[in-house]
Amino acid sequence: MADLSVNIGELQMKNPVMTASGTFGYGEEFADFIDIARIGGIIVKGTTLHKREGNPYPRMAETPAGMLNAVGLQNKGIDYFVEHIYPRIKDIETNMIVNVSGSAIEDYVKTAEVINALDKIPAIELNISCPNVKQGGMAFGVTAKGAEEVVKAVRAVYKKTLIVKLSPNVTDITEIARAAENGGADSVSLINTLLGMAIDAERKRPVLSTITGGMSGAAVKPIALRMVWQVAKAVKIPVIGLGGIMNWKDAVEFMLAGASAIQIGTANFIDPTVTIKVVEGINDYLDRHGYKSVKEIIGALEV
Ligand SMILES: Cc1cc2nc3c(=O)[nH]c(=O)nc-3n(C[C@H](O)[C@H](O)[C@H](O)COP(=O)(O)O)c2cc1C
Repeated sequence: MADLSVNIGELQMKNPVMTASGTFGYGEEFADFIDIARIGGIIVKGTTLHKREGNPYPRMAETPAGMLNAVGLQNKGIDYFVEHIYPRIKDIETNMIVNVSGSAIEDYVKTAEVINALDKIPAIELNISCPNVKQGGMAFGVTAKGAEEVVKAVRAVYKKTLIVKLSPNVTDITEIARAAENGGADSVSLINTLLGMAIDAERKRPVLSTITGGMSGAAVKPIALRMVWQVAKAVKIPVIGLGGIMNWKDAVEFMLAGASAIQIGTANFIDPTVTIKVVEGINDYLDRHGYKSVKEIIGALEV
């Protein structure tokens, strides 16, 4: 059994496997299927300062080897989270991380400030990359200036581990990653969904109510892997890789490309036990190749 532990900033994880925001609820929904304490970190649903209803239905569409979603950050707001959800999840024995979204810098700052006071939340993931909200969201993540500004403002009030989630819908993701690093991020996670579209030819209408949506799943993996590899070379802070990870082999590939940890999203909808299978698969891979620690494979790609 190899040592699977990794660190992201001051965050200590028992293994590098995390769940991606919006695809694993608050973790408890999966407790009937797996021992969720065996996961390295659980990133809970996108949380905003105020309650959001999300976008009208339909907001999901299946695509070849993937899916489109336009959920639009449906959640009950940070006060509801603190009062009703935090007490339920705070004693789960893994890192419970809150994904924070907003429409304005002030929203991000206020939400982060509230979470900073919650003892059992060791990190936040700042979502500056949601393609499914009209204001804010991805807007901050597509320019270096916007990214640095929002990260700096949150850094000033948030004292624990700050992960910044990047959008792939940009020309040069390394520039945005560096801006997040300059703003004070402890880590960057990538990728969020790719902007896509689906059309119903018979009805001559878009499938999604929002016309466009975010694409995820196996089909996006090569793009995500390329971006993780580029970003890992461009920044000094640890990179968390995600996008189309369906099994342990995909996870190992992201780590070889430079990711210190990985997240699993869409695959949870197909197999609710996939996270544990990935933990075990990484361990087997390390044993077979004679590695004592998973840290040895981070960025070990030979080119
Ligand atoms: C239904 C759904 C909801 C999502 N909600 C969020 C969210 O609230 N915040 C966020 O940062 N990312 C959200 N995402 C993006 C995922 O966390 C992840 O970045 C993306 O799906 C790529 O990973 P995957 O291919 O493994 O799913 C969502 C994705 C899906 C499919």
